[in-house]
Amino acid sequence: MPIEAPVDPFSPPSDSVLWKRNFLLGAATAAYQIEGAVDEDGRLPSIWDTFSAIPGKVLAGDTGARACEHYQRWETDLDLLSELNVDGYRLSIAWGRVMDEAGRPNKKGIEFYKRLVGRLKEKGLKTFVTLYHWDLPQYLEDRGGWLNRDTVYRFADYADLMSHELAGQVDAWATLNEPWCSAYLGYGNGHHAPGLANGRYATQALHHLLLAHGTAVPVIRANDPGSMVGIVANVGKSSANSNSEADARAAHLFEVQHNAWILDPLLKKSYPKDLFELWPGTEPLVLDGDMEAIGAPLDFLGINYYFRSNVKSDGAHGFTEVPLEGVERTQMGWEVYPDGLRDLLIGFKETYRNLPPVYITENGMASDDKVVDGRVDDPQRISFLKRHLAAVDSAVKAGVDVRGYFIWSLMDNFEWAFGYERRFGIVHVDYETQKRTLKHSAQLVAKFLAERNARA
Ligand code: FCB
Repeated sequence: MPIEAPVDPFSPPSDSVLWKRNFLLGAATAAYQIEGAVDEDGRLPSIWDTFSAIPGKVLAGDTGARACEHYQRWETDLDLLSELNVDGYRLSIAWGRVMDEAGRPNKKGIEFYKRLVGRLKEKGLKTFVTLYHWDLPQYLEDRGGWLNRDTVYRFADYADLMSHELAGQVDAWATLNEPWCSAYLGYGNGHHAPGLANGRYATQALHHLLLAHGTAVPVIRANDPGSMVGIVANVGKSSANSNSEADARAAHLFEVQHNAWILDPLLKKSYPKDLFELWPGTEPLVLDGDMEAIGAPLDFLGINYYFRSNVKSDGAHGFTEVPLEGVERTQMGWEVYPDGLRDLLIGFKETYRNLPPVYITENGMASDDKVVDGRVDDPQRISFLKRHLAAVDSAVKAGVDVRGYFIWSLMDNFEWAFGYERRFGIVHVDYETQKRTLKHSAQLVAKFLAERNARA
């Protein structure tokens, strides 16, 4: 597809880190959101198959049954990456494709991922593999899911299998994607699979998720010593609704609940005390040695950032959100606030002296994109990406070791509880015909990277 002259050029200033050849620019996806083929080659159902089949859980009753048919179309989808000139690709593995209920490997499922990472390597792309992007096998949920400590050890077995099978082919392993979402949305408020809503469950599920991560880290390192091992956390920025002390406290607690709840155990080997002021009586059961395991050194930290939330005190222990008026928002209703990314990164460097090198593993936005005469204009996304990349550049200039940035997402896909209506891709997907069309943002990314590569 020809690359057109940019209307709104995606061209960073000459001193930007984006021009550096070793700053990785990539695109990201996740298995359940794109693969489809849920009954193919011995794949076992996940909690998202179950959850999305329950009426009312996902907008318009959408499910991942077909999604982008990536399981069939993976070769041409990977060619899109070449068209975009990106340096890397972040994907996830569906646990239920590669292992059966007794823990035995499923050869056909494993072959699929072998072919995928093999092709990425042939293309010279850096491959970031996430082991768990929310699709817990349903049989494990039936045994208690992340509330059951045994799931920790089942995850370590799965990590062992895949890091053994794909050793030498993966540049970076992430154990988990956004454990906050798995724990809080999955077990705390029930908006995501498996749909349970109990504060005590959320903290215990999170503890087991982090312990699964910590238990898997040394296993992956032993199997694939040449790769990096890390984890991906979503982080949130808050603002206080007023100058009152109570609202300032609320804004602080918001960031404790979103960020410190996850990052403190990983980087300080303890849970933030303030969390249990916010959620009294929800302390998880922690056994001897757990915090030490969770705090295993990381080769990188993946950060996913999307928006800011404005909050005020709820008059008791916590906060409530008060949406700001007159601010720019996306199709998700999320505020566009690039400075939040810069400020959070700088703040993490100050808070965590052992902050590992950071990759922005997700950033992007949804818009109601349409193909008109073969083109997809997405000016808000172009501006969004430009401003967030500038925010990353200023964090780097302020001394934060950020080494790369992945756009969420390579292509439109199943956006969890919002189904197919919310389009995050830089490549448009027509779900009827499965036709892919590069959006204008994708064309500009490709053009910029071609220029950068020519200069280097
Ligand atoms: C993140 C998820 C990702 C995608 C984006 C929009 O929370 O990791 O799968 O849905 O949000």
